[in-house]
Amino acid sequence: MARAFEQCGAVPRAALRLRRGGRRGVPAKPLERSGDRRDLVGRGGLRESQRRRGGRRHAGAETTGATAGCSSSSGAPRLLGSLPSVPDVPVLDHAAVLAAVTPIAAIEAVRDAFIRHRRGEWVMPPKVYLDSPPFGDFRAMPARGGGLAMLKWVSSFPQNPARGLPTVIGVVLLSDAETSEPVLVLDAGAVTALRTGAVAAVASRALARTGASAAGVVGCGVNGAWAARSLVAAGWADGVVSDPRTEAAEALAEELGSGWRAGSLAEALAQDAVSCVTPGAAPVVTEAALRPDLHLNMLGADGPGKAEATVDAVVACALFCDEWEQASHDGELAGAVAAGRISRDRVTDLGAVLTGEHPGRSDAAATTLFDSTGLAIQDLAIARAALHALSDGTVAAGSVRL
Ligand SMILES: NC(=O)c1ccc[n+]([C@@H]2O[C@H](COP(=O)([O-])OP(=O)(O)OC[C@H]3O[C@@H](n4cnc5c(N)ncnc54)[C@H](O)[C@@H]3O)[C@@H](O)[C@H]2O)c1
Repeated sequence: MARAFEQCGAVPRAALRLRRGGRRGVPAKPLERSGDRRDLVGRGGLRESQRRRGGRRHAGAETTGATAGCSSSSGAPRLLGSLPSVPDVPVLDHAAVLAAVTPIAAIEAVRDAFIRHRRGEWVMPPKVYLDSPPFGDFRAMPARGGGLAMLKWVSSFPQNPARGLPTVIGVVLLSDAETSEPVLVLDAGAVTALRTGAVAAVASRALARTGASAAGVVGCGVNGAWAARSLVAAGWADGVVSDPRTEAAEALAEELGSGWRAGSLAEALAQDAVSCVTPGAAPVVTEAALRPDLHLNMLGADGPGKAEATVDAVVACALFCDEWEQASHDGELAGAVAAGRISRDRVTDLGAVLTGEHPGRSDAAATTLFDSTGLAIQDLAIARAALHALSDGTVAAGSVRL
């Protein structure tokens, strides 16, 4: 019967290994090396659960012993001929992604991703923007690392909240980098929120002054709220959140804990480490707001034409970014670059700080500014952590047949 499976081609090699007495039930291990993929995909963890979920289809093929076509679970012939097919692909919706990856796990995964990318172990091209005027833009964001390849297809549509939709909507597709099989589909909004929040915590810890303890968050929408939640998870017990939608700021402050409160923009900017996550339609940081010791994470300006700080304010800071190509064209730095006011040598990659190649805040009294445009490796880190959680049985998934 196994031969019929092979001829039908409906079962991936990993599942065949399992059925032939391969190692089942091997617990997933922390993903450290390039062989990581096998822990999740090929040695029984996820593939085993996929096999169980997709069993109906494969069982149909096995009982018919068909060689020229396979039966679907509905009984209709799957006109595969000699074409192979892939197993059912697990799907994690918004809530499942958030259940799979805690903010602390997201922070660790994102920090690790920056280090691996800096070392050349994880790779990604700059994100591709596709304008959809006048509504917003789509982004295609691929990355590869840890035996997995990922594509995030996601939007930034600033008017969407007025329609009752999130600004950021999309899908993440995770594939086995060795066989190219899709292994997981995830809600991109949740992945984005976790990794965007996580980078605020990573950069704050790396770049804020020693002893910094109070955080500010400007913009309490979806991603601002996750920045705040991640900061709390990382130990920032005190802070001020600010938003013209005062009810959103107050609700968020209440959720975050007793050390947090809603306040004005000036009060949020007076904290030690401030994360700005507004739509970037108008600057919220001017030169007048800068002071020694302040650290700024600029997260909202992640596309053409957006800015949360004036060019004068940007130029006055010690500058850091997630990735120069993206930041210099489509991030907070873009305005100052276009004006010829800063160049590559003024800006340090966060990865260089995290690997210890660069000291980060070299002047204790500096005002530091980190420009986050959002990297595909961050998304890969979260998707990989979610795959791990699925393999561990921490969360359950739906599935889709391709
Ligand atoms: N850097 C990244 O990795 C990354 C990731 C996700 C989203 N983003 C960007 O972040 C921005 C926000 O995204 P979102 O999904 O949270 O949007 P959202 O619409 O959910 O939230 C935006 C919030 O900003 C508030 N706001 C608007 N003007 C403000 C001001 N002057 N001061 C304070 N708050 C103000 C709004 O009231 C709203 O609550 C977008 O531009 C988005 O593209 C960046």
